[in-house]
Amino acid sequence: MSAEPVLTVRDLRLWYGTPRGSVRAVDGVSLEIGAGQTLGLVGESGSGKSTLGRGILGLLPEGAKSDGEVLYKGRNLVGASHRELRRLRGPELGLIFQEPMTRLDPLMRIEDQFRETLEQHESKLTDAEIRRRSLDTLGRMGIPPTRFRQYPHEFSGGMRQRIMIALALVLRPSLLVADEPTTALDVIVEAQILRILADLKENFGTALLLITHNLGIVAEACDHVAVMYAGQIVEEGPARDVFAEPKHPYTRELLRSTISLDTRELHSIPGAPPNLITPPTGCHFHPRCPDIMRVCPAKDPIETRHDGDRRVLCWLHGPESEIPPGGGEPIERERIAVAEEA
Ligand SMILES: Nc1ncnc2c1ncn2[C@@H]1O[C@H](COP(=O)(O)OP(=O)(O)O)[C@@H](O)[C@H]1O
Ligand code: SF4
Ligand SMILES: [Mg+2]
Repeated sequence: MSAEPVLTVRDLRLWYGTPRGSVRAVDGVSLEIGAGQTLGLVGESGSGKSTLGRGILGLLPEGAKSDGEVLYKGRNLVGASHRELRRLRGPELGLIFQEPMTRLDPLMRIEDQFRETLEQHESKLTDAEIRRRSLDTLGRMGIPPTRFRQYPHEFSGGMRQRIMIALALVLRPSLLVADEPTTALDVIVEAQILRILADLKENFGTALLLITHNLGIVAEACDHVAVMYAGQIVEEGPARDVFAEPKHPYTRELLRSTISLDTRELHSIPGAPPNLITPPTGCHFHPRCPDIMRVCPAKDPIETRHDGDRRVLCWLHGPESEIPPGGGEPIERERIAVAEEA
């Protein structure tokens, strides 16, 4: 990581109050992203990725609560006023998410949407500069200048998605959260989007949090990868190292399920992610883990560091001194099934 990260998240907790109890969607997450770096965030549906991405930008729905630190260039955004967050959003903090129409005004020409966005945040730009910057950003996304004066409904879904992304990128945010930006798109559009994201970090030093189901994208586009399960980061490290030698059983299962089926979607690991109102005791992954040991359901795992820049939350990797006598003994799967039936 570079000397001064753009984003430092420390022990972040985010939860939703519901009639059935608190949904602890993000449960003690820490991470860093430096200028020009991309952190891929992966994990099954329901693991808390979107909550984390939105929580970092202060975009959680009414009723959601937060605790911990989200330091953007040293400033804590947890507890920042709506006004300050609004000011930062756009030129400093950007968000791209899945649904293409959410941020395009159907009644405005594309040209005017870009003009409005730029005028709002960069009042010093001349008309010519606004036009040049807009067309340049759109051009990189494969939208020709001839279409600048058209309305959103005149574009295909894939094009609208690219326009929306261009609209977030035209302000050159220092920190960008992209939540499954390519999930609904075809491979060609996906490649274009990945190229422009790469461009952005090279040219403007944007720090990127890229949330995706697609491990292929992470391998291609991310420096680091964080694996999320049941609200926690269970493994994090340089993408190449984590893929070559996953340390956490969940990461291993995740990689195996994707690779074996050779599809672009994530396929099933036996069992299902837990509900986050009452997650399993100890290691949240223990009911599904092929390597479960006696200590795992009894005691919360403690994060350990390896090879300098890797970390993992799993008793298989220590710390030895915290494992009670006999805790390292494996538990047979059949015995668990019998115990649960009894
Ligand atoms: N507005 C909400 N109110 C209550 N629970 C929510 C809300 N949004 C998400 N959740 C719950 O938070 C957990 C994490 O969801 P989410 O962050 O969307 O995960 P992911 O993006 O990894 O699929 C899930 O259990 C989900 O049901
Ligand atoms: S702590 Fe135990 S149950 Fe959890 S992933 Fe590691 S070995 Fe499996
Ligand atoms: Mg999500």
